[in-house]
Amino acid sequence: MASCGGGSAIIVVFVSSILVLLVLPCFSHPLCSDSRAPFSSKTPLLFCPYNGSLCCTSAQDLSLQKQFAAMNISHTECASLVKSVLCARCDKFSADLYTVQSTSRQVPLLCNTTTGSNSFCSQVWNTCQNVSIINSPFVATSLLSQPGTPVNSSSKLTDTWKSKNDFCSAFGGISPDDSVCLDGGPVILADKKPPSPPSGMCLEKIDNGSFLNMAAHPDGSNRAFYANQQGKIFLATIPKQGSGEEMKLDESTPFLDLTDEVYFSTEFGMMGMAFHPNFAQNARFFASFNCDKSKWNGCSGRCACNSDVDCDPSKIGTDNGAQPCQYQTVIAEYTANDTNSQPSTEARPIEVRRILTMGLPFTGHHGGQILIGPTDGHLYFMIGDGGGVGDPYNFAQNKKSLLGKIMRLDINTNPSPAEIDRLGLWGNYSIPKDNPYTLDKDLQPEIWAIGMRNPWRCSFDSARPSYFMCADIGQDHYEEVNLVTKDGNYGWRAYEGPNPYNPPKAPGGNTSRDSISPIFPVMGYSHSDVNKNEGSASITGGYFYRSTTDPCLEGRYLYADLYAGAAWAGIETPENSGNFTSTKIPFKCAEDSPIPCTYVPGNTLPALGYIFSFGEDNSKDHFVLASSGVYRVVPPSRCNYSCTKEKATTTSPPTPSHATCNYFGLTLSLISCFVLSYILMI
Ligand SMILES: *[C@@H]1O[C@H](CO)[C@@H](O)[C@H](O)[C@H]1NC(C)=O
Ligand SMILES: *[C@@H]1O[C@H](CO)[C@@H](O)[C@H](O)[C@H]1NC(C)=O
Ligand SMILES: *[C@@H]1O[C@H](CO)[C@@H](O)[C@H](O)[C@H]1NC(C)=O
Ligand SMILES: *[C@@H]1O[C@H](CO)[C@@H](O)[C@H](O)[C@H]1NC(C)=O
Ligand SMILES: *[C@@H]1O[C@H](CO)[C@@H](O)[C@H](O)[C@H]1NC(C)=O
Ligand SMILES: *[C@@H]1O[C@H](CO)[C@@H](O)[C@H](O)[C@H]1NC(C)=O
Ligand SMILES: *[C@@H]1O[C@H](CO)[C@@H](O)[C@H](O)[C@H]1NC(C)=O
Ligand SMILES: *[C@@H]1O[C@H](CO)[C@@H](O)[C@H](O)[C@H]1NC(C)=O
Ligand SMILES: *[C@@H]1O[C@H](CO)[C@@H](O)[C@H](O)[C@H]1NC(C)=O
Ligand SMILES: *[C@@H]1O[C@H](CO)[C@@H](O)[C@H](O)[C@H]1NC(C)=O
Ligand SMILES: *[C@@H]1O[C@H](CO)[C@@H](O)[C@H](O)[C@H]1NC(C)=O
Repeated sequence: MASCGGGSAIIVVFVSSILVLLVLPCFSHPLCSDSRAPFSSKTPLLFCPYNGSLCCTSAQDLSLQKQFAAMNISHTECASLVKSVLCARCDKFSADLYTVQSTSRQVPLLCNTTTGSNSFCSQVWNTCQNVSIINSPFVATSLLSQPGTPVNSSSKLTDTWKSKNDFCSAFGGISPDDSVCLDGGPVILADKKPPSPPSGMCLEKIDNGSFLNMAAHPDGSNRAFYANQQGKIFLATIPKQGSGEEMKLDESTPFLDLTDEVYFSTEFGMMGMAFHPNFAQNARFFASFNCDKSKWNGCSGRCACNSDVDCDPSKIGTDNGAQPCQYQTVIAEYTANDTNSQPSTEARPIEVRRILTMGLPFTGHHGGQILIGPTDGHLYFMIGDGGGVGDPYNFAQNKKSLLGKIMRLDINTNPSPAEIDRLGLWGNYSIPKDNPYTLDKDLQPEIWAIGMRNPWRCSFDSARPSYFMCADIGQDHYEEVNLVTKDGNYGWRAYEGPNPYNPPKAPGGNTSRDSISPIFPVMGYSHSDVNKNEGSASITGGYFYRSTTDPCLEGRYLYADLYAGAAWAGIETPENSGNFTSTKIPFKCAEDSPIPCTYVPGNTLPALGYIFSFGEDNSKDHFVLASSGVYRVVPPSRCNYSCTKEKATTTSPPTPSHATCNYFGLTLSLISCFVLSYILMI
């Protein structure tokens, strides 16, 4: 599995028994070095020259000022350079500047262009080499950590570093065109012209089944799991692109059948599944589903409406005839170990471990997707506000409630019964040490982000794992896509999308808009964009498209409306800026689709039914999971959509020196692309 922290990733690849070492910068959107999103300072900073979106509070600015003063740098020019080095903590890209190859640094990455001698790193060396600095940050980290190092000792760069080359290999990074590095002031991204929107998305239908979830097999093969809402998981084989074949999925032999435990109706059922990244070795996987307390005695969790969150279940009444917490949400672990060395193609329907059980106050908005974080291996669990118009109990903003949240659970460490008790956990999981409750004591320890209404489909960008995108279904007017970061508050119900929201009822109290700093959506659409009467609209979030099948969709974030009337492609300009614009894209079916698509006469869009979800397989191809079947994104030419990039890659044989692709923001030769595509697969 390819992984990268804030800075870059070293990936070891074995190709025909040759060891290839690739050092790949791995960029992030603006992010602070504590992994939280940048914010705007209410009062301007007095010391560091940063404004707008930044990573320092006034208190941190003041402490940098003190640190700087204590250095007692007499040389004016050098002092000004050192000040800009210290102040890089305030840059909105501080996570990128201070985290290189997953390790955090004392000194930010200093720009060090390989050509030209006057890079910022060279300037620091040339200007400061003989200047005395007290508690210099440029003392080698190994020296700093030695117990005998005197405090308040004065040193020159030349005391530690023999030459500019020495100094710049320790603190320098590649040129500002390719990477985020400190060039003396706020990081500015190269402003490339955004590519023109794709002319359309071409689909083929490969299965008639109706599924809510898809997960690529962690063994990297052409197989994937599909789960239906009723509670069955199937293991399917995906045909090669262009083969004209349907998907091989046998509905009579499910991989797992939980229909006896799962409560299935419009908003209930099997809502998520996740496979351990080492599934091929340990056979571990997880299912997230709803159950009915009156039908199964395994369905007996604490009610999410309780005195800790000022909610009295006896007062909230019944909802659609159901008692509060009659329906529950469950995450359970299963095994596909039939004692052979390979995971079996049929799993045991017996729970290995109950991860979580929680009673739902109402019958709506309970998300239920689960994902394993590509860099941390933790389980992310998406849950809505629990239902009711306008989140009447204000659960989504309540830091003690787990409703309306994204949770992050450690499923690789077993908690002791004492820990379950002490932290009031809802099941058998541990709390990751860096969950945001360590920064905000009011938060329940499971919480990663708050202020969600009903997150419907989140994904991690397979090329840049720090892009954790979550679509959140709106109330009356606005459907949104959020870029989710640690400790983020996505606003509901103080806001619906970017607009203030006033709830019709607030028996659970009200959160004032002034008391929170919401992070607004990066993309979205108004109900009026899909429906003239501001009627039904419901977002379904997708993935960043990273396949080479449709080069005109590369790097776009795809999403759609459940009612299948529209799909969008979002593009980020400049790359890594977190600034997105999205355009509606037409879509249709290839005429030679393995299973012919149906069209309603007079309608240009194929009749997909509801778009429940998107999926991504091990070749990074995209799938639309609709109520009418499974659709795959195919080359645009199969629908007569024009895409000049496609012609460039299909009509001429690939010549490594001309053909390039873009991974991790790096333009690579096609050979490296294939190598990369391969390693991203394994
Ligand atoms: C930040 O400061 C610069 C230079 O002083 C100024 O041009 C710019 O308008 C400021 N931006 C904001 C958002 O205040
Ligand atoms: C600061 O530097 C000045 C001049 O270089 C020197 O006289 C003074 O003693 C220094 N102060 C400290 C606290 O080292
Ligand atoms: C620093 O000191 C060295 C050795 O005394 C000298 O060669 C060099 O020119 C000095 N550099 C600066 C920028 O003063
Ligand atoms: C280091 O310097 C600071 C500021 O000048 C001073 O407050 C502190 O006492 C000094 N510490 C030691 C161990 O000398
Ligand atoms: C720039 O940094 C690299 C390591 O990041 C180092 O190997 C190289 O020598 C540096 N170049 C210069 C001109 O200092
Ligand atoms: C899929 O549905 C179509 C239309 O209802 C039908 O003709 C076809 O046989 C079905 N294919 C499979 C594999 O079930
Ligand atoms: C599979 O189960 C067998 C028997 O319970 C056990 O010995 C073995 O370690 C398990 N294998 C894995 C990969 O968990
Ligand atoms: C932990 O898992 C075991 C086995 O599935 C289960 O019996 C127990 O109830 C779980 N504990 C909690 C607190 O859910
Ligand atoms: C909730 O707060 C908003 C704004 O703070 C206010 O406009 C609204 O009237 C309040 N609603 C209730 C039911 O208290
Ligand atoms: C955001 O993207 C749009 C569309 O490409 C562009 O016009 C705008 O300048 C970008 N904004 C920023 C702050 O980069
Ligand atoms: C694409 O164009 C060809 C030739 O003009 C035409 O025969 C075919 O029907 C078109 N296909 C689609 C999906 O529009």
